[in-house]
Amino acid sequence: MHRITFTQPDDWHLHLRDNANMSSVVSASARCFARVLVMPNLKPPITTCVQALDYRQRICAALTSHFNPLMTLYLTNNTSVTEIAKAKNIEQIIAVKYYPAGATTHSEAGVTDLRRVWDVLEAMQTYDLPLSIHGEVTAASIDLFDREKVFIEYVLDPLLEHFPKLRVVLEHITTQEAVEYVSNSDANLAATITAHHLLMNRNELLTGGIHPHHYCLPVLKREKHRQALLEAATSGNPKFFLGTDSAPHAKNAKESACGCAGIYTAPAALELYAEAFEQAQALDKLEGFASFYGADFYRLPRNTKTVTLEKRTWSMPAYFAYGEEKVVPLRAGTDIYWQLVQNDL
Ligand code: NCD
Ligand code: ZN
Repeated sequence: MHRITFTQPDDWHLHLRDNANMSSVVSASARCFARVLVMPNLKPPITTCVQALDYRQRICAALTSHFNPLMTLYLTNNTSVTEIAKAKNIEQIIAVKYYPAGATTHSEAGVTDLRRVWDVLEAMQTYDLPLSIHGEVTAASIDLFDREKVFIEYVLDPLLEHFPKLRVVLEHITTQEAVEYVSNSDANLAATITAHHLLMNRNELLTGGIHPHHYCLPVLKREKHRQALLEAATSGNPKFFLGTDSAPHAKNAKESACGCAGIYTAPAALELYAEAFEQAQALDKLEGFASFYGADFYRLPRNTKTVTLEKRTWSMPAYFAYGEEKVVPLRAGTDIYWQLVQNDL
């Protein structure tokens, strides 16, 4: 198959940053996604509805094309039930994001213990406002590669037991254990999967030298986990859907003695998913994963326009402007095998 046309996709997990950096990256996502779910981990974080709507305005103002950013609130120990009630009545705010404090980029303001926000979770369950989760424990005693698995057992499972009606998205899953847990749970739990976790295992991070542009959190895992993710994404199971976790950082912040976590995939995100699905001989499953299941989970209408991808090799630039700095995309200076050729936007 050399050309595929399907319903326009959405990206249910995206970091757009702010100001000049945001202006530099937003069009890479707007070129193909109709809606994106914007992560709130700015500095300072987006913790109130007013901040979320202001941020959304800045994003929309940076673009000329049609694009619908949907917003998240950053859950902190101090989030109030009142703020949750407000969010429920704002169409553009569709989830609350839980970062365990210290788990990832700009998570210092995250929750230190979920029991501190029990009343907020109760309210989210009542108002049916989904919780989006960065699913890793942070204890120094837990091996980095086990942090997702341990989170599922010790944090997620008790949480779902206590709040059986709370709708939850386990974001950017990276392990076989997560695939199994999500598959075996009821419809209130879903998961997003990134293109980079479908295409790379941890060898890509650490063999032949250290590759800072392949460093993200949760960190890449061993090959059997990549295969489990690929199987889940291409299974047609609506619990698994697209969330790129495209997370730009300035080139010098990545290529550093203590490099930041985050992979910038937006310039070829959909094309990279197509490559992964093609590898699994499952291009026919891409539309459900990319364009239907996320919208269905968030109870939003499916998109009506279409996009077309063609099997045509092009070369990813070595870097893009990022405010005053540079940002290095995944596959910088190398080949991408699919290309977005047209959309009737
Ligand atoms: C993200 C970022 O840079 O904001 N980094 C990452 O490695 N994925 C944060 C996150 O989603 O964990
Ligand atoms: Zn993320």
